[in-house]
Amino acid sequence: MMDRKEFFQSCGCVLFGGIAISAVTSGCSSSTYTAQHTRNGKLVTVPLSEFVENRNGVFQPRAFVIVKLAGEKYPIGVYQHGDKKYSALLLRCTHRSCELQPLDDYLICPCHGSEFTTRGVVQSPPALVNLESYAVTVENNDVVIHL
Ligand code: FES
Repeated sequence: MMDRKEFFQSCGCVLFGGIAISAVTSGCSSSTYTAQHTRNGKLVTVPLSEFVENRNGVFQPRAFVIVKLAGEKYPIGVYQHGDKKYSALLLRCTHRSCELQPLDDYLICPCHGSEFTTRGVVQSPPALVNLESYAVTVENNDVVIHL
C-alpha cells in the first residue's frame, strides 16, 4: 500500500511553502465536485442526486461534494459514508486556519500537513483539534446541513 509521500509523488503533487499545487484536486483525487445547494437561514439543502456521478452512462457515488456558501470564507465538505450517513465538515484547518484539501478518504492541510478523517477527527499533527462539523439529516431526497 502506498504511503502519503509516495501518493503525492505519484500524482506529481508538490507543496511549496504552504501553497498546494492545484493538481492535488485535479489529478490525485477522483474529483472535487462543487454541489448545487439552496440555503434557508441555517439550513443548507443539497439534493441527494449531487452525490452521484454519471461517468459515461455509469452512475457512481461520489465520496464527497463541496458546498460553497455565498459570503463564507471556507467551504464545507460533505462526505457520504456507506451506512447512508453523512458528515459535513468546515474545511478550515484547526491548526492555523488554512483551507483543507479534501480527498476521497481523508483530508489534508496543504500548509503543515495535518490530516483528518472524513468524519473530521484529527489524525496527525500539528493540528490537535477535530474539525468543526455540522449536523446532517436526510429529508426526502435531500441532504440537509444544519449550520
Ligand atoms: S494550518 Fe493546517 S497544519 Fe498548519
